[in-house]
Amino acid sequence: MIVTTTKLFELAYGKFAIGAYNINNLEQCMGLFRGNLDSQAPFIIQISKGARSYTHKLMLEALIRAANGVFSDAVFAVHLDHGDEKTCMDCIESDFYSSVMIDASHEPYAKNVEITRRIVQAAHGRGIVVEAELGQLGGVEEHVSVAEADAKLTDPDQAKDFVARTGCDSLACAIGTSHGAYKFSGSQGVRFDVLAEIQKRLPGYPLVMHGSSSVPQEEVARINAAGGKLRGAKGVDEDVFAQAAQLGVTKVNIDTDGRLVWTRVHREFFLQNPEKFDLRDPGKTFMTEYANFIAHKNHKLGSAGQLAAARAAA
Ligand code: G3H
Ligand code: 13P
Ligand code: ZN
Repeated sequence: MIVTTTKLFELAYGKFAIGAYNINNLEQCMGLFRGNLDSQAPFIIQISKGARSYTHKLMLEALIRAANGVFSDAVFAVHLDHGDEKTCMDCIESDFYSSVMIDASHEPYAKNVEITRRIVQAAHGRGIVVEAELGQLGGVEEHVSVAEADAKLTDPDQAKDFVARTGCDSLACAIGTSHGAYKFSGSQGVRFDVLAEIQKRLPGYPLVMHGSSSVPQEEVARINAAGGKLRGAKGVDEDVFAQAAQLGVTKVNIDTDGRLVWTRVHREFFLQNPEKFDLRDPGKTFMTEYANFIAHKNHKLGSAGQLAAARAAA
């Protein structure tokens, strides 16, 4: 059942976080639905601009519609991840997406407000929920000073002003994480102090944590042992999700960790089976492994076991 993203946020707020997982293909789609049903969790499917253009923008939409029929017990929302204005408008007009993310965080503040407000007006007119971003995620290098690093984080006072001016329904905050497999070095980590200040100014308001992959070290070691070269990859400790949820994070974005599962399964498969060439062999292993991975994440997020409650609330 496809539900509005807001319903999932209302259910989760202050108690647990909803896993928001990016997909790009059939095998990820299958593993995603299986893993969420195995763990009895509501979830958010994320489609990025790159995922839409990987094949044709309608292909993932068709897969999800089919999965909604095949896995009829599933409760989920469909979300555009990191949209620009044009892509957001296209998704809003498609009437398929539950929510869109407008990412104008690289623009000056006034321009970010202006663009986000335009998307909110268009989306709300069609009952679609909007996530916006304030602050800048990104790799923080060891040599960057504390003041420089802090300047990229979401300013709590500005966050309050931004939500009031734009009317966006949830806010992606820069709290120290970054995208990809190389997030932290040294003593850096998630800035719970900043998150707590944002929650104080926006009580009850859903916050989103991007760049939340944990980059499991055993996964990295297996990839490297099978011919990969991922050096110094590091992510967010998945045991911090519960603390983040208490501080208002209702949506946790995870993509990279799923890519690592894919890479490990395929590298190991072809290393161990050099004579094989049927793509369905590693594909079957991947779907099972991806489902296990999703179920594991949902237990860490606290969304596991919340499926019945999500269905009742929808
Ligand atoms: O934050 C970005 C997501 O991981 C999506 O990545 O744009 O390569 O599909 P992508
Ligand atoms: P990761 O790269 O940490 O998986 O973050 C994904 C993300 O934020 C998608 O929007
Ligand atoms: Zn992101």
